[in-house]
Amino acid sequence: MPRRQHITVLMILAVSAFLGITFVLSFRSQPEGTRHPDYTPSYHQQVSVDEGLLKGVATAPKLENATLKAELGNAAWKLLHTMMAKFPDKPTEDDSAALKSYIHLFARLYPCGDCARHFQKVLDKYPPQVATRSTAAAWACHVHNVVNKRLKKPEFDCSKIGDFYDCGCAEDGVPAKGKKEGFTPLTLDDKEGLTRGG
Ligand SMILES: Cc1cc2nc3c(=O)[nH]c(=O)nc-3n(C[C@H](O)[C@H](O)[C@H](O)COP(=O)(O)OP(=O)(O)OC[C@H]3O[C@@H](n4cnc5c(N)ncnc54)[C@H](O)[C@@H]3O)c2cc1C
Ligand SMILES: *[C@@H]1O[C@H](CO)[C@@H](O)[C@H](O)[C@H]1NC(C)=O
Repeated sequence: MPRRQHITVLMILAVSAFLGITFVLSFRSQPEGTRHPDYTPSYHQQVSVDEGLLKGVATAPKLENATLKAELGNAAWKLLHTMMAKFPDKPTEDDSAALKSYIHLFARLYPCGDCARHFQKVLDKYPPQVATRSTAAAWACHVHNVVNKRLKKPEFDCSKIGDFYDCGCAEDGVPAKGKKEGFTPLTLDDKEGLTRGG
């Protein structure tokens, strides 16, 4: 082949490779809905959050003021336990994934840095159990007790968690017979947390 023709062939090849890559990339960067009709995102691609994001390094600096630390802790535990009490008895997979992500991000972003770093280690040891309301509530009670123990505070009786954080289920319709209605007995089943929840 003469030299000229050689160069032309090479140029045609280079241009087609460039166009091909551009074509593929243009589909990938398009927002949902304008993607290629064959593109079907799976349910999990939509709900799952990257592990690295969930378990990243805690963001806050050390919280020096003990009064603020205690007030913050008190309010945060109240929020966490109340959230568990209101979590669905029969959550969807999406609900459970949301709660699990929330707990990890709660730990990562907790505004007392030392507390956050410690709590992330607690989560490593006791992964969030998010399969049902009762497992979630029992799990939160358990990890709060782990923190209590470390701070030399009295242990909380987790069999009373349903009385303590009333889920308020009676308010939304038919009056419940007693406070515990809608709150199934507590169990702490490790396997469940690691499979269904995890
Ligand atoms: C994630 C996290 C990590 C923390 N880490 C630290 C730390 O490293 N160092 C530090 O100094 N402080 C830490 N704190 C704060 C600490 O846990 C307390 O919140 C704070 O010392 C105030 O204690 P408190 O006596 O008011 O009771 P809290 O522990 O705040 O509890 C509030 C109320 O919840 C009830 N309760 C107690 N135990 C349980 C349980 N197991 N389940 C359900 N309800 C219960 C009781 O009625 C109690 O009065 C942390 C808080 C959080 C949320
Ligand atoms: C800690 O914070 C509280 C509440 O804002 C404040 O009243 C107190 O003076 C602070 N203590 C110290 C040692 O800074």
